[in-house]
Amino acid sequence: MARFRRCAPLLPLVVFACALLPRAAHAGLYTQSDQVVLLTPSTVDAVLFNSSAAVLVEFYASWCGHCMAFAPVWKSLARDTREWKPAVDLAVIDCADENNRQTCIRFGIRGYPTLKFFHAYSEKGSNGVSFEVAERDVMSLRQHLINMMETHKESWPPACPPLESASEVEINKFFETNSVQHLALVFEKADSYVGREVILDMLQFENVAVRRVLDTEEGLVSKFGVTDFPSCHLYYPDGHMTRLSVQMEARTFYSYALQRLSGVVRSGRPPPLVSDLSPNNTEMEWKPFNRSRVYMADLESALHYSLRVELAAHPTITGGALTALKRYASVLAKHFPGRPMVKNLLRALDTWLQSQEDAEITYKSLQVVLDNKEETPEALLPDSVRWVGCQGSKPRFRRYPCSMWTLFHVMTVEALNSSNSDAQEVLQALRGYVRNFFGCRECAGHFERMAQESMYQVKKLSDAVLWLWSRHNRVNSRLAGALSEDPHFPKVQWPPPELCPKCHSVQLTGEHQWDSAAVLTFLEEHFSSSRIFLDYLEPEAELLRRQLGPPVILEENEQDTGDHAARAARDIRQDLGEEPAAEKDQEGAEDEQELDADQSEGAREGGENDAMPEAAARRPSILGLHRREAQEEIVDLDSFVNQHYKAKVLRAALISRRRRRAVPGGHEQGRAGDLGLQPLESDEFAWGAKQRLQKRALTGQYTGLEEDEEALDLDAGSLGGPWVSVLSLGFSRLDISLCLLLYTLSSLCLLAMYRFFQLRVWHRRGKVALP
Ligand SMILES: Cc1cc2nc3c(=O)[nH]c(=O)nc-3n(C[C@H](O)[C@H](O)[C@H](O)COP(=O)(O)OP(=O)(O)OC[C@H]3O[C@@H](n4cnc5c(N)ncnc54)[C@H](O)[C@@H]3O)c2cc1C
Ligand SMILES: *[C@@H]1O[C@H](CO)[C@@H](O)[C@H](O)[C@H]1NC(C)=O
Ligand SMILES: *[C@@H]1O[C@H](CO)[C@@H](O)[C@H](O)[C@H]1NC(C)=O
Ligand SMILES: *[C@@H]1O[C@H](CO)[C@@H](O)[C@H](O)[C@H]1NC(C)=O
Ligand SMILES: *[C@@H]1O[C@H](CO)[C@@H](O)[C@H](O)[C@H]1NC(C)=O
Repeated sequence: MARFRRCAPLLPLVVFACALLPRAAHAGLYTQSDQVVLLTPSTVDAVLFNSSAAVLVEFYASWCGHCMAFAPVWKSLARDTREWKPAVDLAVIDCADENNRQTCIRFGIRGYPTLKFFHAYSEKGSNGVSFEVAERDVMSLRQHLINMMETHKESWPPACPPLESASEVEINKFFETNSVQHLALVFEKADSYVGREVILDMLQFENVAVRRVLDTEEGLVSKFGVTDFPSCHLYYPDGHMTRLSVQMEARTFYSYALQRLSGVVRSGRPPPLVSDLSPNNTEMEWKPFNRSRVYMADLESALHYSLRVELAAHPTITGGALTALKRYASVLAKHFPGRPMVKNLLRALDTWLQSQEDAEITYKSLQVVLDNKEETPEALLPDSVRWVGCQGSKPRFRRYPCSMWTLFHVMTVEALNSSNSDAQEVLQALRGYVRNFFGCRECAGHFERMAQESMYQVKKLSDAVLWLWSRHNRVNSRLAGALSEDPHFPKVQWPPPELCPKCHSVQLTGEHQWDSAAVLTFLEEHFSSSRIFLDYLEPEAELLRRQLGPPVILEENEQDTGDHAARAARDIRQDLGEEPAAEKDQEGAEDEQELDADQSEGAREGGENDAMPEAAARRPSILGLHRREAQEEIVDLDSFVNQHYKAKVLRAALISRRRRRAVPGGHEQGRAGDLGLQPLESDEFAWGAKQRLQKRALTGQYTGLEEDEEALDLDAGSLGGPWVSVLSLGFSRLDISLCLLLYTLSSLCLLAMYRFFQLRVWHRRGKVALP
């Protein structure tokens, strides 16, 4: 019994550990990274009824062939209309899932897929409106969605701007009643949707209002001599008008150009500040660079960080992770277009790794090779980071993840040029690295999902280049507007028209289209080794001298080697919003100051060469889409375009959406998710640690579900894989190891107890049986 008592305190731990086990994932056709709301019986009412946004729902069955074929269309539609979310959101529910069956019956779903539109502020119990289109392609669906939005009557969704055409009188009086900087007018024919699409595309942006003007509005048309329909013009308070210059007269180009007007910012985000460049108030010296070029300094920093910092978090590397590392090293040795000494070191690393036959290597032994302790002549990997093209306006922006993307693109392009490689080899090596070692586990999950979806189809090296480009754009689309986005480097569909005009074209229908041949040519040139800039690199001779001499203190304040490795690895996770809660609280004060200091007014980013943008220490007036608000309001439409109001409405809409999703959903874990991938929001209020955790839980609910599934998808073979991903939610690696150790101990203990009682029972029985 003594043993029992000693074990008892461990029991809760066992239970706790079991509670954290990933649950069986049900495989629907969608995940949260598809930017659709995944409905469950417990959230369905909150999402569909009395919501400030309209919702278009797809009821599907995961086994139905039509649904499978339709899923990519639905996903594209979600990406296409992602800026419209505060006004209209997309949702899905899998009726094949046992748990959802009752819900689907309730809505009278007989066939799949069935689309239903729920107006904003739909009454509880409403059955939605059927949503029928002749052609189920993205354009028809999107246009019909606009038609449906226009059927709103009194209950117009507050975040949705007016969609009807504007009259001359309205335009003339516009600036009397609205305090926006820009008024854009889309002149078009009555049956054109471009104007309304642009209006919705811009609804999350401040300082700009968009109205559509029909060609029948003769006063305006003749006054300004407008002859092209559609065409987009900027109207000024003094009554004159200039044409918006775009490459093509189409929605995407209008929206892109309008988002780039000076003073136009995402609601709730302060405009980036370019002035005040005194290096005195910056932590690091800003290195001017050309945005349309690739810098070797970033690539070497990526290598240093991935090999010395991220890998250092894995004291021993075995199994799938070891294989992945070997592939990564091999591809680096083959294709990294580095300086000779770096190439030599990568070759030495590759040779060493391939010669390791044991099932396990330690990071220590790897470190010996990385630091060239064996003294391979002329081999070296710089042991600090120097961000140039990947500098962010704040230390928490860009940097390592940016350099990894750059490295990945460079590697695929190099492989294409060298052509002594096959497409899968390169892509799989990068994938393996991300899956096993990339510190941002959520990013790894998302990337892995994309890889599973389509990476196997890539056959040619040129397709590998394009695959990576298009997946990167998907990530950009998902992250546009997230708090982790550097306001000076907004996430755009890349390359934008000004960087590569030939890459863009429009179909006959007016839909934007990438010209993939032009994109490939552009990528080949942009990432080609011959064009990589060597600026800001420490000279090889200097580095070699230092490698031979005693260790010196480097002037860069960001050198993270050896002992600092673990901390730095944690930093990167933090940067991407994955920090363990406890640590966050300790370091919170510091971080928050930084967040607060991040806000200020100023001009938009300018030319190619960027000066250091540094912000005045001023609190944000609005943290718009990510802030809590005490109450929501329903407001009259006329004042909509008043920008102060706009921000409020968007906030209210978001909160409402958040509330809808914040329904306790059984298994939603409080994880910083898609939206939560941002560092914890700063706030006007001094939130206590507890409140902060609550907030995190709120954001987490957006993606919590998915993250679990993702964790499952990851290879269970790797130490740093799903387990850590699931567990690391609020724990450091040490905590996790401890937890697992205790778990093992207590299991053993339980086993022993079981044996003990079994023996006793058996013994007693024996006794009883005996006469
Ligand atoms: C594999 C991977 C997965 C990630 N997943 C997530 C995630 O799920 N959530 C999250 O918050 N962050 C994620 N990140 C980080 C995020 O994608 C950005 O790297 C980070 O926010 C820094 O952004 P950035 O503005 O520097 O531009 P980045 O997106 O890092 O791009 C770097 C540079 O590459 C060029 N570029 C941009 N788009 C393309 C393109 N389509 N093709 C070729 N070149 C391009 C541009 O010059 C750009 O400056 C991930 C990073 C990686 C490497
Ligand atoms: C609908 O929501 C509003 C606020 O968003 C609230 O005041 C109202 O009571 C809700 N109505 C119902 C029926 O829940
Ligand atoms: C930085 O500060 C030092 C003294 O603290 C001052 O001499 C120098 O002029 C400042 N530099 C700039 C660019 O303001
Ligand atoms: C392709 O590789 C060759 C060397 O193999 C190099 O000289 C050339 O510059 C490369 N081309 C590009 C576009 O990088
Ligand atoms: C940046 O590089 C591009 C492409 O090489 C070039 O056209 C542009 O002039 C450069 N900008 C500056 C400011 O050097």
